Amino acid sequence: MPKRLGALQWQGSLRHLPPDQYRQPPRHRQSFHNIGVSARNRDFEKLATEAVKILQRDPSMENLDDLALATDKSELGRFMVTKNRSDIGAFRTSQLRNIDITGPYMHDGSMQTLWGVVDHYNKGGEANPYLDSGIEPLALSDREIDQLVAFMFALTDHRLDTDNRQQMKIQRARADKQRPFRGRDLAFRRTLAFEPSK
Ligand code: HEM
Repeated sequence: MPKRLGALQWQGSLRHLPPDQYRQPPRHRQSFHNIGVSARNRDFEKLATEAVKILQRDPSMENLDDLALATDKSELGRFMVTKNRSDIGAFRTSQLRNIDITGPYMHDGSMQTLWGVVDHYNKGGEANPYLDSGIEPLALSDREIDQLVAFMFALTDHRLDTDNRQQMKIQRARADKQRPFRGRDLAFRRTLAFEPSK
C-alpha cells in the first residue's frame, strides 16, 4: 500500500476513534468538526442569525429541541447548543466500526455509499467559512479511493461477514452508477481558493 494512503487511513481513523481507545488531544477524538456536509447550498450566517434571535425570544429546551430537530436550523450542528461561531456546521465524529453496514452516512444520511464519503473528503469537503482545517483536498486516484473504501469495509466484525459482502455489492453497484460527490478538479487543486461570503 502506498505510504501516503497508509498515513491517510491512520489519520482519518484516528479522528474517528472513541476517546478511550487512543491517547490524543481532545480535538482529535470523536469531537465536533465542520467537514462541510451541512454547508451544501446553505447560508450559515443567515441561519445562525435567525436561530439566535428565535432562541433569545424563547430560550426553553423545548424550543431548542424543536429548532434543532425539526427545522433547517439543525444544519447549524453544535452551534445550536454552544452559540460559538466556531461550532457552526460542526457535528460529532462517529466511530467507524462496522461502518459499511450502518449507512446512509453523515448526520443527514446524505451519502449512500462509502465511495460517496471518500469522494467528499477527496475534494476537500464543501467550502464554507467554518470548514475544519483538517479537511483539505487529498488528490486521491480512483485506485486509492477504492483502497480507502476497502479499508473501511475491513473495519467490520467478522460475525457480520455476510452483511459485509452484501453491502459491498450493493454499494459498489450504486457507486458504479452514480458518484454525486465526486469532484476530480477540486481533489487535485493545489491551493484553496478564497471563497468570499455572500
Ligand atoms: C480520509 C479520511 C477519513 C475518512 C475515510 C473518514 C470517514 C468517515 C465516515 C465513513 C463518516 C460517516 C460516519 C457515519 O455516518 O456514521 C465520517 C463522518 C465524519 N467525519 Fe470523517 N473520515 C475521515 C477524516 C476525517 C477528519 C480528518 C475529520 C475531522 C477533521 C473527520 C470528521 C468527521 C465528522 C465530524 C463526521 C460526522 C459528519 C456529519 O455527521 O455530518 N473525518 N467520516
